[in-house]
Amino acid sequence: MLQIRGLRLHFPTKTGLVRALEGIDIDLAPGECLGIVGETGSGKSMTARAIMGLVPHPGQIEGGSIKLEGRELVGLDQTEWRKIRGRQISMVFQEAKRALNPVSTIGSQIIEAAMQAQGVSRARARELGIATLAKVGLPDPARIMGNYSFELSGGMAQRVMIAVAIVGGSKLIIADEPTSALDVSIQAQILRLLRDLRRDLGSALILITHDLGVAAENCDRIAVMYLGQIVEMAPAQMLFGNPVHPYTCSLLASLPSVADRGKPIGRATREVPPPGGYRYATRRLPDGSISPEIPQMIEVEPGHYVACLPEGAEKPKVVEGAL
Ligand SMILES: Nc1ncnc2c1ncn2[C@@H]1O[C@H](COP(=O)(O)OP(=O)(O)OP(=O)(O)O)[C@@H](O)[C@H]1O
Ligand SMILES: [Mg+2]
Repeated sequence: MLQIRGLRLHFPTKTGLVRALEGIDIDLAPGECLGIVGETGSGKSMTARAIMGLVPHPGQIEGGSIKLEGRELVGLDQTEWRKIRGRQISMVFQEAKRALNPVSTIGSQIIEAAMQAQGVSRARARELGIATLAKVGLPDPARIMGNYSFELSGGMAQRVMIAVAIVGGSKLIIADEPTSALDVSIQAQILRLLRDLRRDLGSALILITHDLGVAAENCDRIAVMYLGQIVEMAPAQMLFGNPVHPYTCSLLASLPSVADRGKPIGRATREVPPPGGYRYATRRLPDGSISPEIPQMIEVEPGHYVACLPEGAEKPKVVEGAL
């Protein structure tokens, strides 16, 4: 249903060009769940925002294609985007309380979403809203319609946001760290809810998470992002059973213990263009050498893709613990 090819997203800044995404390829089948993992700044949220047509200023899509059920989304104007968002693709953000409008009731937000997406009357949208709040497991949905987001707990607010995302009938939901602001038991409930909804509604899900355990438990396939590129993508079991890229191996090696679950992994990427314009220049191998080529994806076993240097390129010496 979703096909992304060679997607490039750049930010022109005072200090130079930030290449946030540099050649992303993704395929997603109807009903499938794809996990996107990777350290902070690797481009997970920018991938999500590009798919939603919500690239923040001054970001620009510089190349590539995003097709939803065969239709090209890159280059659509805002009027066309409004017809797609909430109807065909919806997004669930990390902090539901901040993402929901604080000065309008839950009811008016979900009614608005339903009316826009489904083109139904206000009365019908209200019925749909109440039914959807019930579907996401909220008790007494008619009362919640009259609440404001600040009156709800974090877990309830996240359920409301999921209801707003699904009320328009989107077949693709993108959830960007949907549970990282919640405590562990509520996290598990929200992930179970997303799983049940996928099963009941047949929607596809892109789940962005810092938590490899969450990705392993919930996703059919996992894409590992690093510095604006996907460095490895495979069915979840294959990725965990046979990781190939050194960065994936280092992520798996740093899998937090149960006590640390939910804490972010990885370290911050500097928001400046790499020296000499070459993105891997900020990541030197321990002997000081710099990888000389942009890697390309190769299929190492059916469905398992890894970014490798092109044949004939000078290969950097990979040293244990280099990343
Ligand atoms: N407004 C901006 N100006 C310049 N660069 C930006 C801007 N917003 C994002 N970027 C760049 O895009 C890169 C990717 O950001 P993104 O938000 O997608 O990271 P992420 O993987 O979602 O990280 P996190 O795990 O912290 O949410 C950042 O490293 C940064 O260099
Ligand atoms: Mg992010």
